[in-house]
Amino acid sequence: MSPSTVDPPTIHELKSLAGRDAAGSVESGMRVGLGTGSTVAHFLLGLGDRIAGGELSDVVGVPTSIRTEKAAIELGIPLRTLGELGALDLTVDGADEVDPRLNLIKGLGGALLREKMVAQASGRMLAIVDDTKLVERLGERAPVPVEVVPFEFSSHLRWLEGMGAEPVVRRNEDGGKYVTDNGNLVIDCHFADGIPDPIALDECLGRRAGVVESGLFLGMADEAVVAGKTGVYRMTREDSR
Ligand code: A5P
Repeated sequence: MSPSTVDPPTIHELKSLAGRDAAGSVESGMRVGLGTGSTVAHFLLGLGDRIAGGELSDVVGVPTSIRTEKAAIELGIPLRTLGELGALDLTVDGADEVDPRLNLIKGLGGALLREKMVAQASGRMLAIVDDTKLVERLGERAPVPVEVVPFEFSSHLRWLEGMGAEPVVRRNEDGGKYVTDNGNLVIDCHFADGIPDPIALDECLGRRAGVVESGLFLGMADEAVVAGKTGVYRMTREDSR
């Protein structure tokens, strides 16, 4: 008789494991930043279940996108704004890449600006990923999304090329330009061999007029919940806040 084989978990199942695990990190009374994306969708389901089941009370969330806001309302997760709450205890969000120091690339879902605003208001940020998102060097696989105001957006392309990027204006399936929840555009910046110096790139982008924000989240995540075929584990940043 041949030994029985078990199919490895799908990416969808890994995202579910990470998201559900992170829902267990929320405690009653917490003010929680609610990220955006397909992994966060599982976190929201887990959080909604815990609230509905009476396991958690007095939890309020701040959504990072219209999509997350709608999902949270449907799941009965009470929402507030950053202006009302001031500071948050915890933000849980997905990522497109995670390096060994827990620096992240985020924003393939387009919510990078609101995600960064919510994360910077949080005492702790938890990234939830499947292990295909782990990289040695940021930019190895995912482009860095750069949100720009629509005015003269194409003027950034040559400048970004000068920074070593291959910039591509993000488009919808119908060919129209992708527009963020904030009415801005996104330029996805590909780096052939990864980003040589993410800190320097982040600083240059931060100084560029017309650039609103980038998907580089450096030194922001304190912990990552990583789901792989052997199970779920956590990575912690050494100099975490
Ligand atoms: C949303 O703008 C992004 O930052 C997402 O958090 C990131 O793209 C991860 O998305 P998935 O969980 O869908 O892979």
